[in-house]
Amino acid sequence: MSRLCPSMSPVCVPRTLRLLRQLFPGLPAAMQRLYSLDVSAPLLRTQGYVDGRWVSAASVFPVLDPATGQEIARVSDCGPAEAKQAVDAAFKAFQSWKQRSAKERSVLLRRWFDLMTNHKEELARLITFECGKPLQESLSEVAYSASFLEWFSEEARRVYGDIVPSPNKDRKILLLKQPVGVSSIITPWNFPSAMITRKVGAALAAGCTVVVKPAEDTPLSALALAELAEQAGIPAGVFNVVPCSREKTPSVGEVLCTDPLVAIVSFTGSTATGKVLLRMAADTVKKASMELGGHAPFIVFDSADIDVAVRGAMASKFRNSGQTCVCSNRFLVQSGIHDRFVEQLGRAMDAELRLGHGSEPGTTQGPLINSRAAEKVVQQVSDAVSRGAKVLKGGKRLDGSFMEPTLLADVTTDMLCTKEETFGPLLPVIRFNTEEEALAIANASNVGLAGYCYSQDVSQIWRVMEALETGIVGINEGLLSTPEASFGGVKESGLGREGSKYGIDDYLDVKYVCFGGLKP
Ligand code: SIN
Repeated sequence: MSRLCPSMSPVCVPRTLRLLRQLFPGLPAAMQRLYSLDVSAPLLRTQGYVDGRWVSAASVFPVLDPATGQEIARVSDCGPAEAKQAVDAAFKAFQSWKQRSAKERSVLLRRWFDLMTNHKEELARLITFECGKPLQESLSEVAYSASFLEWFSEEARRVYGDIVPSPNKDRKILLLKQPVGVSSIITPWNFPSAMITRKVGAALAAGCTVVVKPAEDTPLSALALAELAEQAGIPAGVFNVVPCSREKTPSVGEVLCTDPLVAIVSFTGSTATGKVLLRMAADTVKKASMELGGHAPFIVFDSADIDVAVRGAMASKFRNSGQTCVCSNRFLVQSGIHDRFVEQLGRAMDAELRLGHGSEPGTTQGPLINSRAAEKVVQQVSDAVSRGAKVLKGGKRLDGSFMEPTLLADVTTDMLCTKEETFGPLLPVIRFNTEEEALAIANASNVGLAGYCYSQDVSQIWRVMEALETGIVGINEGLLSTPEASFGGVKESGLGREGSKYGIDDYLDVKYVCFGGLKP
C-alpha cells in the first residue's frame, strides 16, 4: 500500500481502490484482498444465536467495512419472530439460570473472559473491519470488553442482601436481592464488543438471561461473543443474539421493549432513540438502564500543566476518531493559556494523527462509521466558519466517510458544534476568562455524561468537580473508563450506572421479607 500511496494520506485507501477499479477492471479483487477480513476466521459467525442454536432468517443483510465500503459478510436478518423466540428462550432459561449458585455463574463468566483473552487478535480484527477503528484500539477494546466479564464474575459472589434490626421482637426483616429476569440488551456500533459485556456481564452475574440486539453496522463482534459463550459453557437460552438490518430494527426493538416476558431494557445509544425505547417500555412498566448521549466540556484553566492538558485532549478527543459518548465535545480554554494550548495541540495533531485503514500499522484514525456521520461533522464545521470560527487544522471531508481531524479556534456558544454532540474528530476551542463563565458554558446543556477539568489549583479542582453537571469527571485525565468505576450520566444522558459495584443493581430487585410469628 505504501508504494501506491507513500504518504498514506488520509483517503488513500478508498481513493486508490476506486481509481484502480476504474483503470484496471481486473485489479479490484487483488486490492480488496489487501484489506479483506479472512472469511475463514474462526470466530466469524453470520447467523443469529437463539436458545443455544445458530439460526438463519428469511433474508440476510450486508456488513460493510466503513473504510472501503466493501462487503465483509452477510448476516441473517432476524425479525420480530426470531426476537420473540429469543425472548421465550431467555425466559425459559431464566428459570434454571437464577437457581444456579453465584459461584457457578461466576466460574462460567470467568471462563468466557479467559476465552476472550485467548482470542483477542481475532476479536480485534472483527472490530476493526466492522467499525473501522485502528487495530491497536480494537485490541484495547477487547481487553476492556473482557474486563467486564472478569469484573462481574467477581461481583456475582458479592450480591449481599440485608438483615435489618426490627422494631418488633416477634419479627425479622430481610431484604433479599433477586434477579429481575429477561434483559433486552440493545447496543451501539462504536464499541461493538465492550458495550455488550458491560451490560451482559452484570445481567448474567445477577442471575438474569439476555437477548442482545447488536447495532446493524456491527453484528459480527456480538456473534463472536456468542460463539465464545457457548465454548465457555453458558447454557442454551441464557445469552441470545438477534442481529438485524436497519429496516428490521424498529420491529425487533419493539418486541424487545414491549414483550411482557422482558423485565428490563438496557440501551446504549443516542438520547433520541433512548426516549423512544423508554416510551415503549413504559406500557409494561419495565426497568430501564439508559446510557445516552453526551456533550463533554473539557476545561483548561490558566494553572493547568499544558503538556498534561494537551495529552488529555488528544486522548479524549481522538479515541475512536471522536466517536465515543465520553469524547470531549467542547474545549473551554482560559485566556492566559489559550494561545499556547492551541498551538501545542495543533503540533500534537500534526505529529500524532494518521488516517488510514484500521488494519494498516500506524493508523490512529479510521473512518467514521458512515457518510452521514461525516456529513454531520462537515455541517458543524461550515456552520462554525459562517459564524466566525477559524479552521486551524483540517476541516475537510475526504473520500468515503474519512474526515480530517479538525481544530477550530474563535468558537462561540451560538455555533452548532457547541450545542450538539459531534461524534467525530472536531475539536472546537472556546476562549473564556473566569471560572464562573466556564462553568456556565459547561453546564448549559440538556445532557451530562462526562466532563474534564485541567488545573493545578486544588481548591479550584474541588469547586469545579462538584459544580460540573455530569455523571463522570476527569481531573487532569482524559481517559477514564474502567470496569471498577461507574459509567453513566445525569440529565438526558441516561438512567442507571454500568460497571463498578453499582452496575449490577439494575438487574436486581430488592424483596422485603417480613419473617413474623417468632416467639421471643
Ligand atoms: C461509549 O462511548 O458509549 C462508551 C465509552 C467508554 O466506555 O469509554
